[in-house]
Amino acid sequence: MASAIARGWADSEGGPEAMLFCDAGSGRAAALAARTGGEAVDSLAELARASDAVILAMKPGAVETAAEMLGGEAKAIVSVLGATSVARLRELFGTVPVVRTMPTIAVEIRRGVICHAPLGPSDGAVGAELLELFDEISHLVEVPDELMDAATAIMGCTPAYLAVIVQTLAEAGAEQGIEPDKAYDLVLESFTGTLDLLRRYDPIEVRRTVASPGGSTEAGLAALADAGAADAFRSAVAASLRRMRG
Ligand SMILES: NC(=O)c1ccc[n+]([C@@H]2O[C@H](COP(=O)([O-])OP(=O)(O)OC[C@H]3O[C@@H](n4cnc5c(N)ncnc54)[C@H](OP(=O)(O)O)[C@@H]3O)[C@@H](O)[C@H]2O)c1
Repeated sequence: MASAIARGWADSEGGPEAMLFCDAGSGRAAALAARTGGEAVDSLAELARASDAVILAMKPGAVETAAEMLGGEAKAIVSVLGATSVARLRELFGTVPVVRTMPTIAVEIRRGVICHAPLGPSDGAVGAELLELFDEISHLVEVPDELMDAATAIMGCTPAYLAVIVQTLAEAGAEQGIEPDKAYDLVLESFTGTLDLLRRYDPIEVRRTVASPGGSTEAGLAALADAGAADAFRSAVAASLRRMRG
């Protein structure tokens, strides 16, 4: 996720003036610095001392260790961590401004969605400035802190779910004899156009328009209902929430 955010900013006009990166030893920070024109540093404390804000993008289970390694040097915190409440972040980072966000991976191409918890009085102008930076690479939506996990389950995870749909339909086309690349292209372009239609018409109307009575789409939708497609998506959301809630 850090890589997606940094790449999005590197390709935008209004990203941060400079970016520093740190990892836990894999070398990914140096690779990302080379890709984005930033700089890799050796320790989180060094990174925090030289930065106006620190973006936390480790697994949620590693946040406590990272907080210790930052050593109270961070001037402001942005978290992209799943299932980590604002209260928990304030517990770890004290009185510095804290912004809790949940981005989609499409921030890399500046077409992400980012949910964020409301800023508190102590987050002030810095919090607002940080959100402006994220606005460069995403569509921002404020969500109450207690609903951030639910929002994550329907938007943070969605790129993976949509990827499953596109891949499955393309494979079904290839099984019927269409060249795989062509099948992928057909599904993807259909998908893209449908997304634009869904901005204009509600999903039921789109379905009704495509599925003429007694037609092939109606048969396909009936097969999807028989296979429990809607329930499968609800199960996916419930499973993600269970995982987030430990
Ligand atoms: N993946 C997504 O689509 C997505 C979407 C929204 C939110 N998120 C959130 O983003 C966070 C990261 O997810 P991810 O998929 O990007 O994980 P990831 O690929 O495992 O990346 C985590 C990075 O954190 C680094 N790290 C861990 N502990 C560190 C420490 N003490 N000091 C410095 N660096 C440290 C790791 O370094 P090494 O490279 O050395 O291991 C690694 O580069 C999670 O909290 C997740 O909830 C992810």
